[in-house]
Amino acid sequence: MIDISRAGTFALGTRRVKRVGYGAMQLAGPGVFGPPKDRQSALAVLREALASGVDHIDTSDYYGPHVTNHLIREALHPYPDNLVLVTKIGARRGADGSWNPAFSAEHLTSAVHDNLRHLKINALDVVNLRLMFSAQGPAEGSIEAPLTVLGGLQRQGLVRHIGLSNVTRKQVEEGRAIADIVCVQNHYNLAHREDDALIDELAGAAIAYVPFFPLGGFTPLQSSALSEAAKALGATPMQVALAWLLQRAPNILLIPGTASLDHLRENLAAADLKLPSAAVAALDQIGRATARH
Ligand SMILES: NC(=O)c1ccc[n+]([C@@H]2O[C@H](COP(=O)([O-])OP(=O)(O)OC[C@H]3O[C@@H](n4cnc5c(N)ncnc54)[C@H](OP(=O)(O)O)[C@@H]3O)[C@@H](O)[C@H]2O)c1
Repeated sequence: MIDISRAGTFALGTRRVKRVGYGAMQLAGPGVFGPPKDRQSALAVLREALASGVDHIDTSDYYGPHVTNHLIREALHPYPDNLVLVTKIGARRGADGSWNPAFSAEHLTSAVHDNLRHLKINALDVVNLRLMFSAQGPAEGSIEAPLTVLGGLQRQGLVRHIGLSNVTRKQVEEGRAIADIVCVQNHYNLAHREDDALIDELAGAAIAYVPFFPLGGFTPLQSSALSEAAKALGATPMQVALAWLLQRAPNILLIPGTASLDHLRENLAAADLKLPSAAVAALDQIGRATARH
């Protein structure tokens, strides 16, 4: 039996979660649009994640849209007290599956209400404001207006904690001056290390850093150094990629995504994998060139 608590815990605001969690995005249909290929198997993945000790699930109402939230509700409601559901707002899907920015007060407010209704809860544990100033990744621009709207929804008791996603260091700084930010969710993995300095800053402030695409996203990571390290350790490359993140900083929380029970089990087992320092040094070379300080 996998014991994911071996990887420890970290705070998400007033909650504390295990460092190995689960990201639900892959449960929707192709392109994160429409229903899953196999609904029963999607429900089984969610139920097994919880049965294996996962207490942190990342989702959004715009996955599907509504699909992953409906699956979570069907598989897991009524939710156990220890489960922390983290959602995100700031986008709307077009009829063609496109991802469109949605930052007006009206859009943000309806997104919070949609998440509440589809997850069937009265308050959202954590809501990430997901920025979309550029389709290429984080881009500068003030976040004051949307964050103030989200702060208002928090004061109404609809949102317990606020996080930021797809943000620059400057936006994190601006956000922290406006609201109590409990987590940052950005693109980061072995090969994509632009946020190295930000992660360390957030660790110092006890703010969780939750990498999205921890395995490389829609095209999982491939590297000879990763494959060699995995072979030497008797693990899989994806397990090594996750173990590297766990060892990278104590405030990193994992939300690897999968629609496969086998992959879920494999990913959760990474909680138990310790990388020797020589392996970490070799793996560090993969993304060194992308680090920004
Ligand atoms: N804030 C944001 O902008 C944002 C953006 C993207 C994602 N997210 C969140 O971050 C979570 C994680 O990101 P992600 O799911 O896109 O990417 P990911 O976790 O890096 O990788 C998922 C991909 O890896 C495959 N995979 C998973 N485990 C595997 C294994 N053990 N062996 C081989 N392949 C494996 C999955 O396919 P299978 O289904 O076949 O396993 C899927 O194609 C999402 O679920 C979502 O909640 C947030």
